[in-house]
Amino acid sequence: MDQQAFESIQDGIRRKYAEVSTSAEGKFAYPTGREGALFLGYDRALVEELPREILASFCGVGNPFALGPIETGESVLDVGSGAGFDMIVASRYVGEGGQVCGVDLTPEMAAQARKNLALAGVANGEIREGSSEAIPFNDASFDVVISNGVLNLSPQKELSFREILRVLKRGGRMQFADIVLEEGAEQANACSIDAWSD
Ligand SMILES: C[S@@+](CC[C@H](N)C(=O)[O-])C[C@H]1O[C@@H](n2cnc3c(N)ncnc32)[C@H](O)[C@@H]1O
Repeated sequence: MDQQAFESIQDGIRRKYAEVSTSAEGKFAYPTGREGALFLGYDRALVEELPREILASFCGVGNPFALGPIETGESVLDVGSGAGFDMIVASRYVGEGGQVCGVDLTPEMAAQARKNLALAGVANGEIREGSSEAIPFNDASFDVVISNGVLNLSPQKELSFREILRVLKRGGRMQFADIVLEEGAEQANACSIDAWSD
């Protein structure tokens, strides 16, 4: 893929998720927000304890925490951290001695996540703007990389997985939820930036 096509896809994704950063309602074909989190089996007590606005932009497609435990004291990176809900969940598992970081392509999403982390009282969280293809963290920094509904959007998936491997510590693990196309896209959609960012 040439650089121009790559940047054009990223611009389309940023435009879409700048809108989602205020609310995901009505913008996806699957349940989002608080209802989406409950549908995906997140801990009801945690969902109900959080201020409602924290979940307004949640648009995950699965539950990365259902794939395995996150231990106290671990360092976790959320690739495509959106408005920060999964970072907040991860912070409850790792506790004060752990660390939770996020990276997101869309500045408005990163800003929303910073607000939400503050609202949820997460003191050991850090969000950087950037992409899965060039993760802005050092080699071997994390015990776990999580991601929820993001890697399907990466125009360079192999590079994204190489980057995830780079930032994982030796013996680290990845727990991600995502969507896949089971059949080829129709030609009209295959060439549409809006369809890509949907
Ligand atoms: C479907 S939303 C999911 C957000 C969040 N994980 C959640 O569960 O609510 C996709 C998010 O990934 C971000 N994103 C898309 N492509 C990305 C990439 N290549 N690298 C980093 N973030 C990306 C978007 O800005 C958006 O915030």
